[in-house]
Amino acid sequence: MNSWLLRDVQVVNEGHVCAADVLVRNGFIERVAPEGIGQALGAQELDAHGKHLLPGAIDDQVHFREPGLTHKEDLAHGSAAAVAGGITTFMEMPNTVPQTLTQELLEQKYAMGAAHSVANYSFYMGAANDNLDEVLRTDPRTVCGLKAFLGSSTGNMLVDDPETLDRLFRNAHMILAVHAEDEPTIRRNTAAAKEHFGENIPIEQHPLIRSAEACWLSSSNAVKLAKEHGTRLHVLHISTAKELELFAPGPLEGKRITAEACVHHLWFTDADHAAKGAFIKWNPAVKTQADRDAIRQAVKDGRIDVVATDHAPHTLDEKALPYAQCPSGGPLVQHALPAMLELMHQGVFTLEEVVEKMSHAPARLFQVKDRGFIREGYHADLVLVDLDASWTVAKETLLYKCGWSPFEGQTFRSRVLRTWVNGNMVYADGQVDRSVRGMRTLFNR
Ligand code: DOR
Repeated sequence: MNSWLLRDVQVVNEGHVCAADVLVRNGFIERVAPEGIGQALGAQELDAHGKHLLPGAIDDQVHFREPGLTHKEDLAHGSAAAVAGGITTFMEMPNTVPQTLTQELLEQKYAMGAAHSVANYSFYMGAANDNLDEVLRTDPRTVCGLKAFLGSSTGNMLVDDPETLDRLFRNAHMILAVHAEDEPTIRRNTAAAKEHFGENIPIEQHPLIRSAEACWLSSSNAVKLAKEHGTRLHVLHISTAKELELFAPGPLEGKRITAEACVHHLWFTDADHAAKGAFIKWNPAVKTQADRDAIRQAVKDGRIDVVATDHAPHTLDEKALPYAQCPSGGPLVQHALPAMLELMHQGVFTLEEVVEKMSHAPARLFQVKDRGFIREGYHADLVLVDLDASWTVAKETLLYKCGWSPFEGQTFRSRVLRTWVNGNMVYADGQVDRSVRGMRTLFNR
């Protein structure tokens, strides 16, 4: 395995930025030395003066579509785009084909990760109305979490039987991550929109159909159930100001109920539908500027614990379909960190906050073993960034299988220069080393 000595790099870690030499050996961070390192035999040296070194981001919500939907994305493409975007570990969702509803299917996905992923990987176990016994056999030390769709989205994986929900929340023995949108409300709003607009529902109706009320009803019910049963609940992709009332500010330590925000809900607003159309059609929908600004504030005060992508690609043909047939979701892993760093340039977040919410907090929230920090003895999952190197997202640079991005044409002031996964330099100067393989992520539980 490679050894690297990064000279005079600005290490961003645990709330501080500090110049140091960093030595990587045998896949691990061997030394972080503010006083400098004289010589390191056999290590490749890199003068990183003026550049910043971040712990690789840990994305707790991606859809890489393998198996079964690989015309949209696959583990090789998704993980390559992730490392190019500074994401070194991902947690992948169960709405593949087949859905990840048995331990056997779950382990098959881990085998696919081992075979094809250039990033470190973990896969959620999916909950359905009829697989609780399988769900409860999930090993918390080798699997990131359980996932339940409380509102249907791509893949129609709905858990809507009240008795099942009660049993799931009562018995869940590890993190239960939920997609919270109230299905009856969405159905009623969809029917009303069809009545009004016929087959040509304008995309601008999406946030009114998948409404703030649908989000509130479902996430408040999930929080109520979790409080009743003491469930370790993680509510995914919060999209409204109102839902933020459900979460406590402050550090995540000791919390039984946590929340995630996604980059698209921190960046776009419903006004962007005019320019971006279905490219920003997500579930939950992108909502108002007031919602976006409230979520930004909640990231800062701790009501939102982690920032992720919900990377969920569909093909251009699928995204060109009329509203009712057009699937929700879009690719994000390649641009999530540059977008968050752009928000730093705009004064919305500090650099330390970006690292906290994208690297440290996901590691602590999921109790990830030895990742998410630049600490001696930890796996060398590292991202070298230039915070002063403008570039514009162009189609030719996209690594997604679907070949489009909601950020096309966007100029970012920060650039990912290099990414290391377990000490292997997997991304440099626009090129992914596709021969590298990530590791199965483990958890201290
Ligand atoms: O917009 C979305 N797309 N939200 C989800 O929760 C699922 C995802 C997908 O898989 O396409």
